[in-house]
Formats: sequence, C-alpha cells, structure tokens
Amino acid sequence: MENAKLSFNGREYEFPVIVGTEEEIGIDMQSLRAKTKAIAFDPGYGNTGACESAITYIDGDAGILRYRGYPIEQIAALATFPEVAYLLINGQLPVLEQLREFEREIRYHTLIHEDMKKALDAYPSTAHPMAILAAMVISLASYYHEDDSPETINLNIIRLLAKLPTIAAFSYKHSVGQPYVYPRNDLSYTQNFLNMMFCLPTMDYVVPDVLGRALNLLLILHADHEQNCSTSTVRMVGSSRAGLFASIGAGICALWGPLHGGANQEVIEMLEMIRDDGGNYRKYVDMAKDKNSDFRLMGFGHRVYRNFDPRAQILKKSADEVLQALGVNDPLLDIAKNLEEIALRDEYFIERKLYPNVDFYSGIIYRAMGIPTNMFTVMFAIGRLPGWIAQWKEMRADKHTRIARPRQIYTGERERQFVPIFQR
Ligand code: SDX
Repeated sequence: MENAKLSFNGREYEFPVIVGTEEEIGIDMQSLRAKTKAIAFDPGYGNTGACESAITYIDGDAGILRYRGYPIEQIAALATFPEVAYLLINGQLPVLEQLREFEREIRYHTLIHEDMKKALDAYPSTAHPMAILAAMVISLASYYHEDDSPETINLNIIRLLAKLPTIAAFSYKHSVGQPYVYPRNDLSYTQNFLNMMFCLPTMDYVVPDVLGRALNLLLILHADHEQNCSTSTVRMVGSSRAGLFASIGAGICALWGPLHGGANQEVIEMLEMIRDDGGNYRKYVDMAKDKNSDFRLMGFGHRVYRNFDPRAQILKKSADEVLQALGVNDPLLDIAKNLEEIALRDEYFIERKLYPNVDFYSGIIYRAMGIPTNMFTVMFAIGRLPGWIAQWKEMRADKHTRIARPRQIYTGERERQFVPIFQR
C-alpha cells in the first residue's frame, strides 16, 4: 500500500503504511516528530496502535473475537481453560500430552509459600480482594527469582497460573473468617478453585459439574482481549524491563477500575439498586442519558465493539442455562434483560452504539455460583491472566520493543522566576 501523505506547515510528508493479517491499516508515525516537530495527539489512544500482536483479533463492527485465529464461539463451546491458556501463551493448541504436562506443571505449583499466609492474615477481613490480589502477586517477586532467561520466565508463568487461584480463594476465606482450603492435585483447574472457595473442613464437598462448566466458560471468555486498559498496562510496565510479577500486579490494579474489569461488580450493584427501587428501568435509562448525571448503565458500551460483544451474547445464553441447572431464580437476570431491551430500543444508545459488554451478564452467573460480588473482578483477573502473560511475553520477545514513553502537549505556565518564601 502506498505511503500516507501529510500536508503540514506548507510541507508534504510521507509515512509508511502497515497492513495486518485481517487488512487492518496502520499509518507508521514513528518518524512524525523527527520530520515535523509535531506529535500525534490521541488522549485515551482510541486511534493509536501501540504494537503489532499475533494473539487476539477483534472486529468491533462485526462482533468478531478470535484467540490465535480460533473464533471465541468455538473455543467457548469446545475448550478447557488450561487449553486456552496454553494456546494464548504458546500460539498453538496443545496435543493431549502437551496439555497433560502443562496441567501437571500447574498442579505442582498451586501452593503458596506459608509465609505469604502471614501477609494475608494481616489484612482486615473487609479488605477488597483486588487489593490483596495485586499486593500478593507482586509479593511473589520476594519469593521467586526472576531473570530474562526463557527457563525462569516459563517457570514463573506456571507459578502465576498455579498460584493466582490459590491467592484468590485464600483472600475469600480470609474475608469470611473460614480456614484456608489448600489446593488439591486430584482436581481440575476450575474444580480446584471452586473447592478452595467453598469446601469446609466440616463437610465433604464435591464441586457440582454445572459450576465447573460455568467457571470454565467464564474464564475462557475473559482470557484475552488485545490491547485493553489492563493489558496495555502490563505491556507498559513490562517495557521498562520490570519483572513478570510486577507487570501482572500492575495489570490487576488497572483492571480494578469500574470502567474496566470493576464494571462486573458495578453491574450487580446497579441491578440491585434498580430492584430496590421497584424495577423502574426507564428511570435509570433516562439517568444514564442525562448529561447532568454521572450515572452510567454499567456493563453497557465498549471502546471497540460498536455492534455487539460476542462474549455478552454467549454469557446471556449461559446465564439462563446455569441458573436453571442450579435451580436459581434471580430477579436481577430479568431486570438485566428488561434493561437491555429498553436500552437497545432507545435512540441515545443506538446512536452511540452502546450494547451490553462482557460485564453485563457475567455477574449474574458468578452470583448464582455463590461467588460474592466483591470477588467478581478477581474472577475477571483469573480469566485474563493467560492473556496478560501472552501479551507480556510477546512484548518482551519483540526486539523492537522500546520503553513506553508517550509525549504531551504542555499547557502550563511559561518560564517565570522563583521568589523565595519570605519575599512572596
Ligand atoms: C471491559 O477494552 C476492552 O476490551 C475492555 C474489556 C476487556 O475484555 O478487557 O472488554 C472489558 O472493560 C468492558 C467495559 C466495562 N465497563 C463498563 O461497562 C462501564 C460502562 N461503560 C462505559 O463507561 C464506556 O462505555 C466504556 C468505558 C466501556 C468505553 O468508554 P469510551 O469508549 O471512552 O466511550 P465514551 O466514554 O467516550 O462514551 C461515548 C459516549 C458518551 O456520550 P457523549 O459524550 O458522546 O454524549 O457514549 C456515552 C458517553 O457518555 N456512554 C454511555 C455509556 N458508555 C458510553 N452512556 C451511558 N451509559 C454507558 N455505559
């Protein structure tokens, strides 16, 4: 494709164009400042590509999401979460022996160092589990050596995949004052997490298949989503050559925000507010449209999806199936469906292409599974972990990676002379 041309300040400039696998077009602006003395200005990076990546493809208009080329609909229906983690991190689906070895390695590392329990115990029971998760993940750097060798990186990848569910489940048990339930090597990844969450020493607990299947689906649907806020954070922190644990800890912090992964908790709190207000959907849709109100319809809208979020479609269907299988009749599901129906007929939402995103229905399922609302974003983090790892690994393997350092347009004071305090 021919170069892009820019006419600026009475001169013509040319910039090369790069074209991706799916014909996405990028104008390579790396020489813009050197050539023009000007910078590209794009707060929120809505029009800026930070990297080339071979991991996940999204077509926001067509509602397409593919992990390493495989459509999310097929993966969600046929894969296990460890299989998807292997695919995202290694680029290819594993054969049976490779998957079994990957699962064996993960099982071997599910324990956390006993000293980490002392740090966990020091938190108040009211601590938000995302605060604990971020801190404990970064603390892994205090227990495990990190360097840039492939052997160490791969071992620490396994450690993270293995220990994140343990840390998450332990933070839940700490919050409810129950004893920690240790990981078990005879259970699958999802069964093990649910057992650590819900088993009690006073009872025999068998993880219901429907819960294991629901969690497998939820984790797969959250596994990666190209350059979203938290993944870009992981890449940015990793670009300074900070270690894997520190980079993932930073990603957890970014995910916590209510506009990002924290939205799944906000959706349930919003639906409960609507329920407690007599199910007056129209009132909340109108509030969401009112520029004088800072209320937003949480779980609606997306920077990339301008038609529908395929994950939300899959989760909406799964919510019905899981609640029916569990015999749960949650009025919040009906409120969510009615809210979606009203919003999608409203000009404000249609004009702005605002549709339910992955967070709109996920919380309904987590709730039916017995997972407390303040753990929803932790569940998002467990699902997103292999994506963060894959993106961090791809960034570190790219020899063109430079430390991320955006520029700015300065709008402050011109130079002025400092006046000592006693002369002001
Ligand atoms: C995730 O990036 C990813 O891929 C993220 C994610 C992933 O897998 O990693 O998909 C996960 O984070 C999903 C999004 C979860 N967040 C929420 O559900 C929070 C509610 N949604 C929004 O705040 C918003 O839609 C965002 C943050 C998702 C997207 O924000 P943008 O792209 O910056 O859009 P915007 O804020 O500029 O909104 C454009 C217009 C504005 O109106 P106008 O100024 O044009 O009149 O749409 C309006 C906004 O006011 N708008 C909403 C709205 N979302 C956008 N109005 C009411 N309710 C909403 N939810």
